[in-house]
Amino acid sequence: MPRFLIIAAAGSGTRLGGGQPKALVPLCGRPLIAWTLQAFSPIAFSDVVIAAPPGRVEEFAALAGSGVRVVAGGDRRTDSVRRGFEALAAGDSDLVCVHDAARPFVTADEANAVLDAAERVGAAVGATPVVDTIKRGAAGRVVSTIERDGLYAAATPQAFRAGILRRALASAREATDEAALCEALGVSVAIVPLSRLSFKITTPEDLEIAQALLSRRLHEERS
Ligand code: CTP
Ligand code: MG
Repeated sequence: MPRFLIIAAAGSGTRLGGGQPKALVPLCGRPLIAWTLQAFSPIAFSDVVIAAPPGRVEEFAALAGSGVRVVAGGDRRTDSVRRGFEALAAGDSDLVCVHDAARPFVTADEANAVLDAAERVGAAVGATPVVDTIKRGAAGRVVSTIERDGLYAAATPQAFRAGILRRALASAREATDEAALCEALGVSVAIVPLSRLSFKITTPEDLEIAQALLSRRLHEERS
């Protein structure tokens, strides 16, 4: 079954700060997007497309190298994924994997597990079981404690039959991920557990953790 990859990299990284697109932030000497692309390199995709910040397409294309196409993303993450999807020539039963540039620690095994689940079910979301006790609060006071059982933090990779993703993206609803668009259409979405290393680099603390992890790995590779 042909497999396609869309990397959402068009965000500005407001919470990270630093005045440059988050996907270009250097991590142990290489931009974040390069690490994320490397994580997917063991998987054979028919086509890989990156949604980059408008105005930075050429810069991203130079970084990504041959075999990867770059398109201008949109205002919201879903708009970027939609633009990436429109650039792919995927048939309805082909599989499309969507991944955040900001999650460089995904493994090829995890991405394959999500793709395999999407092949069986039609749609799949990578997610980590919630480990903390979750409280709802208002005005600085606890309102309630939410039953943790069965709670997952949705992440990427997510993967879909292209026909399902096409319908989901055409539905023009507001959602923070494509799995939620599918759920709104009544499509069943498989949950694939991911390692907590699938965390998204969002804040400066996340970047610090990512730096520490990567430099330890690089050090181990050299010794
Ligand atoms: N993303 C995108 N297009 C957008 C917004 C986000 O492709 N219009 C991508 C980001 O590049 C990132 C992923 O979606 O890889 C997850 O988004 P997030 O972590 O929110 O990144 P940013 O939007 O860049 O960060 P912030 O919300 O702090 O500005
Ligand atoms: Mg954002």
